[in-house]
Amino acid sequence: MKIQNILYIYLLMLPLASCTHVSNSGGDAVIERKIENLLSDMTLEEKLGQMNQISSYGNIEDMIGLIKKGEVGSILNEVDAVRVNALQRVAVEESRLGIPLLMARDVIHGFKTIFPIPLGQAATFDPEVAKDGARIAAIEASSVGVRWTFAPMIDISRDPRWGRIAESCGEDVYLSSVMGSAMVKGFQGDSLNSPTSIAACAKHFVGYGAAEGGRDYNSTFISERSLRNVYFPPFEAAAKAGVATFMTSFNDNDGVPSTGNKFILKDVLRGEWGFDGLVVTDWNSAREMIAHGFAADDKDAATLAVNAGVDMEMVSYAFFKNLPEQIKSGKVKEEVIDEAVKNILRVKFRLGLFDNPYVDEKRPSVMYDESHLAAAKRAAEESVILLKNEREVLPLKETVRTVAVVGPMADAPYEQLGTWVFDGEKSHTQTPLAAIRSIYGDKVQVVYEPGLTYSRDKNVAGIAKAVSVTAHADVVIAFVGEEAILSGEAHSLADLNLQGAQSELIAALAKTGKPLVTVVMAGRQLTIGKEAEESDAVLYSFHPGTMGGPAIADLLFGKAVPSGKTPVTFLKAVGQIPLYYAHNNSGRPASLNYKPLEEIPVEAGQTSEGSSSSYMDAGVQPLYPFGYGLSYTTFKYGKPKISSRELSSKDVLTVVFDLENTGRYEGTEVVQLYVQDKVASVTRPVKELKRFTRVTLKSGEKKTVTFELPVSELAFWNIDMMKIVEPGDFALWVAPDSQSGEEIGFRVID
Ligand code: NOJ
Repeated sequence: MKIQNILYIYLLMLPLASCTHVSNSGGDAVIERKIENLLSDMTLEEKLGQMNQISSYGNIEDMIGLIKKGEVGSILNEVDAVRVNALQRVAVEESRLGIPLLMARDVIHGFKTIFPIPLGQAATFDPEVAKDGARIAAIEASSVGVRWTFAPMIDISRDPRWGRIAESCGEDVYLSSVMGSAMVKGFQGDSLNSPTSIAACAKHFVGYGAAEGGRDYNSTFISERSLRNVYFPPFEAAAKAGVATFMTSFNDNDGVPSTGNKFILKDVLRGEWGFDGLVVTDWNSAREMIAHGFAADDKDAATLAVNAGVDMEMVSYAFFKNLPEQIKSGKVKEEVIDEAVKNILRVKFRLGLFDNPYVDEKRPSVMYDESHLAAAKRAAEESVILLKNEREVLPLKETVRTVAVVGPMADAPYEQLGTWVFDGEKSHTQTPLAAIRSIYGDKVQVVYEPGLTYSRDKNVAGIAKAVSVTAHADVVIAFVGEEAILSGEAHSLADLNLQGAQSELIAALAKTGKPLVTVVMAGRQLTIGKEAEESDAVLYSFHPGTMGGPAIADLLFGKAVPSGKTPVTFLKAVGQIPLYYAHNNSGRPASLNYKPLEEIPVEAGQTSEGSSSSYMDAGVQPLYPFGYGLSYTTFKYGKPKISSRELSSKDVLTVVFDLENTGRYEGTEVVQLYVQDKVASVTRPVKELKRFTRVTLKSGEKKTVTFELPVSELAFWNIDMMKIVEPGDFALWVAPDSQSGEEIGFRVID
């Protein structure tokens, strides 16, 4: 036997009282042995300590006392490397077992360098952008000792009233799965064990985005079939991508709060998907089961949560304080606690914390590195969606000499960062006004008058001033939208029109007759039909982050060409909610045109207007459909050829077509493949996105695009709650958005 092996066995047999010697090197089997050894030496208190996450107290001495006693497994919200090391040193060198702490922080779309909000990243339809953004966030966050983030948020979000839509990848199952998995890979890097990798967290499991009325934290009523067909897949994809942790959601679904839901945590997550990482509650969500009326008191809440399969509790101490008694009385088995602790230790070992618990305090700062800013700019550039461009107002022509910049979002460095920015600083933000001046100031004269001081400003006094600066301008660029506070957690809205007097501002600018470019910066899709109508061009930018300014400036002046697509359906009116493209058909599908209410005669007969599933005053057509976005150039789609019209469920369907750039600019098109299962044992969506890719073409260039889709990916949870491909007729579309393209039929024969 080799000497190393003997040494290795010897090390494994060493008593683990002083765990500063435990190392995380080795594969899974080795890690499992180490976990077992460590566990066998832990007291019940120490086990419950591992299951306890606290939020950082300002007073470090208080935390030190708890850590020494082994009462803390993880700390949330410590972002100072010196303090992180000081606390870690106590855990590793002064607690009995020396188990390192797991330092957590909400690093949602960047740490210091802020990328577009996740909804904006989804608008890029570019998983590389999502992966790079998460990688950079991990590099910056880990440099101060953060090794766990609570992202990606992959809740399917079909209600823009819900403020947290900003944090999501939008309404689509496939897009959310692809972008969410890319983020997991970015955060976690090639190996969790690398010091720049941080554990990702798939949240919020599950159904949180379906909150009734779009009101945050509200109940959901999602059937098991919808959970499986719509809400689970992004989470299953994250689990497959190796996500280290999951977070339970605040909502109760069909009466069962996720934090106490055995079906989702045990049967599905552990049983069906084989997840072996750790599950954390959301902030106080175990105790919130009392307010839900699901748990009687803290004891009950802790019992329900751990018995359902939760491993760690965020901030509320219900586990630590109550589980000893519950174990004594037999309400919780100690094996349940052991399983939870194993899951937690497994993540700590995989992160390499036992070997490298400390962060290098002396390392030169990596924050706002040039390469990080460049990646953030690219992300912002790709995320902007061109919704309208009448008479090719954009890109601005060389004949433009004077540009009037107006609107409350033109120079709002804090607001353009968006929600969930705890660490990014507005002093590093580059606003559109600053970027237009600094990059294009030698080519055009810039006159600036915000008109309104912030997005909710109702004081119309400044509008006249804004109008007056347009007098000598060749073009007006109006930056409107939402301040950061208007979206995000607990920031739902019932009205999605532009806030304050922004609509009046746009109307007044439109009246000047000058070419009007409206740039919207917001945390969600707003109902901007009226303002879009009044504008010649509209660029939509979900809060674009640190580098939003230069990205938008380059798009306006044509150095970059828009390529973003809507990751959500844009509505004409808030009353159309829920409106999403992948809906099932009713028995009376709505016609796409509807008559204005005024045209319906007085005393019209009950059935004179027909009977279809629509709104008399708004119809069912969106303002802009899912997947929509223009370019400065134009693309021609050739007729797709498919590999066969008859396929078996084991085949791979190949779709080939030509894409040609028929315009004057080089540009990138996001080509999309949609599928419909025509007849099934349960009704299926009218269209579902199955593939997309970004194709860049020079003016006049043509490329052949190939999509490969295994027929097995047409499987769904059917009437017998089995995931299968049901033989029969299908349709597919290759298209620039969810409403275009020619239907092509094919059949699955077995
Ligand atoms: C509550 C939020 O729902 C969750 O997304 C976040 O990660 C935690 N708070 C921690 O801040």
